[in-house]
Amino acid sequence: MRNGGPAARIAVLPGDGIGKEVTPESVKVIRAATMSARRPLEFVELDWGADKYLREGVTLPAGAVEMLRDEFDAILFGALGDPRVPGNQHAADILLGLRFKLDLYVNARPVELFHNRLTPLRDRKEEDVKFMVFRENTEGLYVGVGGFFKKDTADEIAVQEDVNSRKGVERIIRHAFDYARKQGLKRVCMSDKSNAMTFAHDLWQRVFKEVRQEYTDIESRHLYIDTLAMEVVRDPRQFDVIVTCNLFGDIISDLGAQLAGGLGLAPSGNIHPGKTSLFEPVHGSAPNIAGKGIANPLGSVLTSAMMLEFLGWKQEAEKLRAATRAALRENFVTPDLGGDRKTMEVGDWIAARVG
Ligand SMILES: NC(=O)c1ccc[n+]([C@@H]2O[C@H](COP(=O)([O-])OP(=O)(O)OC[C@H]3O[C@@H](n4cnc5c(N)ncnc54)[C@H](O)[C@@H]3O)[C@@H](O)[C@H]2O)c1
Repeated sequence: MRNGGPAARIAVLPGDGIGKEVTPESVKVIRAATMSARRPLEFVELDWGADKYLREGVTLPAGAVEMLRDEFDAILFGALGDPRVPGNQHAADILLGLRFKLDLYVNARPVELFHNRLTPLRDRKEEDVKFMVFRENTEGLYVGVGGFFKKDTADEIAVQEDVNSRKGVERIIRHAFDYARKQGLKRVCMSDKSNAMTFAHDLWQRVFKEVRQEYTDIESRHLYIDTLAMEVVRDPRQFDVIVTCNLFGDIISDLGAQLAGGLGLAPSGNIHPGKTSLFEPVHGSAPNIAGKGIANPLGSVLTSAMMLEFLGWKQEAEKLRAATRAALRENFVTPDLGGDRKTMEVGDWIAARVG
């Protein structure tokens, strides 16, 4: 963090659709929660998204990555995706561009049940559904290495390579153990499919066995991804921290999100510890409800709590979580969660509570 200047500089990138509705609510809430600080946070809004792309043909502007890396501590992101942009080229350029170019190798997806009425699981209490999923965020099947052979013929072949480096696997596994230790959590589960993916996930196996030896204070365990999917639903109490590859992390964290109330509530962080990191609600731009003022801002508020914690504002982060819990308890929520409040009303309510 900078000396003398603001406590931290945050680039605000609302993006498209409901990203433009929920992100301002989060900024309002963060301002309220951090108001009394001697050195407040500084917010700089960036207009990257579909409108700019359609107007100027620009997705990620030249020098954007360097600017974010050198001048900002964090990025608060809304969502990208617009029906006017077929293929959503702008979204891929901006979001994947930032994830890869800022080397945001940790995708942190906490799963936390804030009210027991929100889980589809029978007889589960809040404390039963609480774990963290760490998804490797820069490698695996998502690097775009592959190709077609004899495309658009009956003999077509499509190949997509699964790219795993020792460095990449080691740093995400190590992050999971470090997080567990720091948070006083006792259990780390690594998940792969090494029985079928005998090269890529053999590497995961070997690295996991090496790294776990340095963390003998933590109970470490391995589950194949298919077994993990069943176990997370059968009894989520077994898990504190889950670490897995890009593809499996994508899927298992969405499964987790549903166990804790669904898309409207799910937060995430794209993190490189110690460097500029990006925080975004899990949901997309929801064109079907954009502009109606009914998008649930709580996913973005919980995302902001993650960002505040990353920036060292732990108490303020907890205030945001407590206010979210209270809004759910009092049913002061948007229609997706069974309430009748507008996006701004919920934002105002949370801001009043944390401020
Ligand atoms: N990280 C991102 O920016 C991101 C993530 C997912 C999807 N997208 C993009 O968003 C666009 C729409 O995708 P989609 O429809 O598959 O997913 P979505 O998350 O936008 O919406 C799925 C469903 O959930 C509802 N929903 C989502 N967030 C909500 C909220 N905060 N409050 C209330 N309801 C909410 C929507 O109304 C919709 O019915 C696409 O262009 C997609 O590519 C972007």
